[in-house]
Amino acid sequence: MQTKMLTSSREDIQEAGTLLRQGGLVAIPTETVYGLAANALMGEAVARIFEAKGRPQDNPLIVHIAAFEDIQPLVSEIPGQARALAEAFWPGPLTMVLPKSGQIPRETSGGLATVGIRFPSHPVAAAVIRAAGTPLAAPSANLSGSPSPTTARHVKQDLWGRIDAIVDGGSCQVGVESTVITLAEGTPKLLRPGGITLEQLESVLGKVEVDHAVLHRLEDGAKASSPGMKYKHYAPKARVILVKGAGYVEYVNSHAGKGVAALCYQEDGPLLHIPYVSFGAADDDSSQAQKLFDALRRLDEEGAAVVYARCPHTDGMGMAVYNRLIRAAGFEVLSID
Ligand code: TXA
Ligand code: MG
Repeated sequence: MQTKMLTSSREDIQEAGTLLRQGGLVAIPTETVYGLAANALMGEAVARIFEAKGRPQDNPLIVHIAAFEDIQPLVSEIPGQARALAEAFWPGPLTMVLPKSGQIPRETSGGLATVGIRFPSHPVAAAVIRAAGTPLAAPSANLSGSPSPTTARHVKQDLWGRIDAIVDGGSCQVGVESTVITLAEGTPKLLRPGGITLEQLESVLGKVEVDHAVLHRLEDGAKASSPGMKYKHYAPKARVILVKGAGYVEYVNSHAGKGVAALCYQEDGPLLHIPYVSFGAADDDSSQAQKLFDALRRLDEEGAAVVYARCPHTDGMGMAVYNRLIRAAGFEVLSID
């Protein structure tokens, strides 16, 4: 298949809308990561997303809308908590899981009785949704298992020749995927940390439960609240080891060797004697989130075989960064002090 590179010009956005209306696949920028979009209400179009990504069929997709009212036909009820969260954080990097309506095809919801809905704040994403005239199902626009794309170049690396078009909207600002919260069970539960922090959610809802799989490995055979949590994720080709402790720099310097590299904070770089890629500043978890996926891809491009990664903290945006890194590391953590 020929993939077309589009810009965010008015004509190109119209073209993206037309392709989507006709059942095509178009990668679009959002404030979190690039999404691979299809008409969320057209089962056959959505099925092609799974094919292009090599994604397991039971992993449901997020449906993207361009106005709060668009949620109405997609869900069977809108709880007060959803209205309160939308008021506080939409448009933005928050996905709410709600009981779905009959309009959502099985392909989109992965056979579940619920659907994840998000109203992105990126102006190009909103413009494409409006041009398509339909809600768009969009997982991250990477091959299943690899780090999510935060630039059009990343999308091209993974999906060139497999989709109809890529709309280039520059680098994504948040850099990690949206926060996913379910409101479809009794207590609100955080399923995936992201651009909206646990602290922010609790400022609106009071106590929010954190699913065990957010910070821990899912035990073999355990049922995942969010099917995405059971799959291998964000993994570069290199073996990644999370190193926890104040002696990070000394530890890494004493483990130099062929193919060994560091994934570190910006400030660590000048102190290291081995090749490194940095992901943001030590005291700035937003910058860490913004740079993480690009850093993981660069380690692969540089041919790293073993990567010692700085273990981030788990509050604020740090929870989202830790959640992605620990999966990239296949849960391999080394405590050094
Ligand atoms: O920021 C984002 O959310 C990006 C951009 C493109 O919007 N999208 C994204 O989609 O990250 P994806 O498919 O890569 O991740 C969606 C996650 C998966 O872990 C999936 O299992 C979970 O959300 N999810 C979706 N619908 C769900 C549902 N009904 N119940 C539980 N989990 C759900
Ligand atoms: Mg994904």
